[in-house]
Amino acid sequence: MNSTAEIERALGACGGERLLDVATGGGWFIERMRAARADPPGGLLVGIDTRPRPLEEPESVFVQGGAYVQMDAHRLGWAAESFDVVTVSAALHHLDDPGAALTEATRVLRPGGALVILEMYCDGEQTEAQRTHILLHHWWAAIDRALGFVHNPTFSRAELVDLVQMTGLAWTFLDTADLEGDPRDPGRIRRLRARIADDLKRARDLADYDERLAQAALYQRRLDEIGIQSAASLLAIGRKS
Ligand SMILES: C[S@@+](CC[C@H](N)C(=O)[O-])C[C@H]1O[C@@H](n2cnc3c(N)ncnc32)[C@H](O)[C@@H]1O
Repeated sequence: MNSTAEIERALGACGGERLLDVATGGGWFIERMRAARADPPGGLLVGIDTRPRPLEEPESVFVQGGAYVQMDAHRLGWAAESFDVVTVSAALHHLDDPGAALTEATRVLRPGGALVILEMYCDGEQTEAQRTHILLHHWWAAIDRALGFVHNPTFSRAELVDLVQMTGLAWTFLDTADLEGDPRDPGRIRRLRARIADDLKRARDLADYDERLAQAALYQRRLDEIGIQSAASLLAIGRKS
């Protein structure tokens, strides 16, 4: 695993004045890219997402001058080579066709620019507490899919590497996991229990509800006995020649 300092250094070294964050949610990754820079970019900061509005917090980048555009990652509305940096964080497994979205991201990137992918993965040597995160995430995603939303199981590390390499960029890979803190932190466990309860409500009309309920009981026990830590993520930075 790479240290947090190594990860932030790699993000900060991407440089550039025009940044596009694909599937931006609340714009958190733009904030992270900006914070990682010694000389924060003064240019164009854009986040796109299919949601009509950002999952915004009061101090979000979109309140402070960044632009939020409702747009599909598979069809970006910019000319080729419009951005210095394009980022996609925690989103590839939410996309219908992640390969096509990466091709689009590469198209709008200028030569010499950086495509930055951050995505959790489900395999490798992860702690039992990290396995809890992976199992729960797959359980959530399965409910989303059953309700008609695109939410695929997370990729293996090798699948992610294969996927990004199809862009033809020159890639650097770093592995990261936030293993700080108590895996059985009561506040975190309480929030996750509440989220499980919410998802069970969403799933209540599904034909296999009883099976999902039984799985939820297992994961709740797992939260108490083993706890949870964030699964490992791959940070992939691709340079366009
Ligand atoms: C787990 S969130 C990640 C948000 C943010 N990038 C982050 O790092 O926290 C996944 C996001 O992907 C967005 N999304 C799903 N399908 C999309 C699509 N086809 N085009 C653009 N955004 C999409 C969702 O609306 C959601 O905000």
